[in-house]
Amino acid sequence: MVQDALLLNRLNWDDRARVHGQDRVYDSESLVAGASSLTEVEEEAIQQAVGSVAGLQVIHLQCHIGFDSISLARAGALVTGLDFSPVALAKAAGLAQRCGVDLALVEADACHPPTHLFGCFDLAYATIGVLCWIGDLDAWMRAAHDLMRPGGSLALVEIHPFVGMIDSLVPLRLDFPYSFDGPHFLDTPGSYTDPRAPVQSTATVQYAHSLGEVVTASIRAGLTVRWLREHTAAPRDYRGDLGAPESDGRYRVRLGGEPVPMLYTLVADRPV
Ligand SMILES: C[S@@+](CC[C@H](N)C(=O)[O-])C[C@H]1O[C@@H](n2cnc3c(N)ncnc32)[C@H](O)[C@@H]1O
Repeated sequence: MVQDALLLNRLNWDDRARVHGQDRVYDSESLVAGASSLTEVEEEAIQQAVGSVAGLQVIHLQCHIGFDSISLARAGALVTGLDFSPVALAKAAGLAQRCGVDLALVEADACHPPTHLFGCFDLAYATIGVLCWIGDLDAWMRAAHDLMRPGGSLALVEIHPFVGMIDSLVPLRLDFPYSFDGPHFLDTPGSYTDPRAPVQSTATVQYAHSLGEVVTASIRAGLTVRWLREHTAAPRDYRGDLGAPESDGRYRVRLGGEPVPMLYTLVADRPV
């Protein structure tokens, strides 16, 4: 079952990676021209975790086609991108070459990284849309812990599980649980970059993880939680249905007029 879910998800991500890179989310030409893909939320997470990445060994978990990996490398980090999709990694390698940036790239399940990488990294970095693919949260956190050197830090920026429950805002409709209740078999056309994108393998298996479950898994893995922030505004429309940003340039989901949490940032350390 676990292997089937992993295979189904990998086929979907291989297909998505094939079509990503020329769209509103992944603008390769801007990246190659020097734009950073890091938003204020990722910058803040890095600032809280390690201050600056310059000169640090960074493992970018579930790096996809390498936009943030390249941005981190440009900021002076020595970056290893890890993903289970060979298509995503090939695209990351091509983009890194076009950007004139060195990346080490590793094809692996984020829950079972190669042991020769254990203890190598000052920072484990993972963002936006990573944990919903992970059935065994404890294994993911243990892997992050083991990849870091003692004293290293995890910076995790993720979609908040509250907003992850919402299928439609108008009318308000929920279609996903707040907390873990096992696998969800989904069949969704296209991708978040474009629902009409030619993705052949559309079946996926996804999992809900509440904020409490994420924090508890990190503690169970041996990490010390240092900082947890819930963001009621986001620098991007990660859902694709939020319309225009508000007057400060940020996107919000408002229910009854009040902004609800859209993202969270967790910073946790591997004790020395
Ligand atoms: C939404 S993307 C992450 C987006 C990334 N933060 C970015 O900025 O491009 C999710 C990534 O997780 C990868 N992935 C999903 N499950 C995985 C697993 N078990 N092990 C490794 N990579 C996985 C997918 O291949 C995909 O590249």
